[in-house]
Amino acid sequence: MEVIIRDVAERDQAAARAVQDAAFALVRTVYRPCPKAVAAPTGKNYVRHRLVAVFCEEVVGTVGYEVQVDRLHVIGLAVHPKYHRCGIGRQLMDHLAEFARGQGLRSLSLYTVEETGNVPIFLRLSFAVVSRNPAEDLESVMGNELMEAFMMRAL
Ligand SMILES: CC(C)(COP(=O)(O)OP(=O)(O)OC[C@H]1O[C@@H](n2cnc3c(N)ncnc32)[C@H](O)[C@@H]1OP(=O)(O)O)[C@@H](O)C(=O)NCCC(=O)NCCS
Repeated sequence: MEVIIRDVAERDQAAARAVQDAAFALVRTVYRPCPKAVAAPTGKNYVRHRLVAVFCEEVVGTVGYEVQVDRLHVIGLAVHPKYHRCGIGRQLMDHLAEFARGQGLRSLSLYTVEETGNVPIFLRLSFAVVSRNPAEDLESVMGNELMEAFMMRAL
């Protein structure tokens, strides 16, 4: 399923949020951001950008990113559940990799919570686990400890 990938436009904002909400509804059965952590300033000033993946004029996927020194950090990759496993996540990541290469960056990076089952997906997308730590800024829905993996894809 070939999609068009472009920077989010004002007219896409609501549709992009709806895709994020639908995609992250699955993840929210595992964890929620800790309210204290959401409220706290990060102390970082990276500019956040967003892309959308569009199929037949419908926003079907979205991803945020920040250029953090020599790497592109990926935030909140989301594909609408009715289009999961159609290759849209891969196209968004490949698009970011191509863009980052063009900017002279050395890698893509992201954090993901292991209990969501996402690590194997990102391994398929050419990422490797760099480190694992208890996810202190997240609240577990089931009360179990959550582990956050930091993953990188070399360019
Ligand atoms: C993670 C997510 C974006 C993947 O998007 P997607 O469009 O379904 O992914 P793709 O179809 O491009 O698949 C990418 C690869 O992962 C594999 N994969 C995707 N979903 C999988 C699953 N549930 N189980 C196992 N493998 C999976 C695919 O087979 C593919 O590998 P391959 O090309 O070698 O066969 C999507 O599942 C999603 O929106 N999840 C909810 C939000 C989320 O967890 N985001 C990540 C936060 S860190």
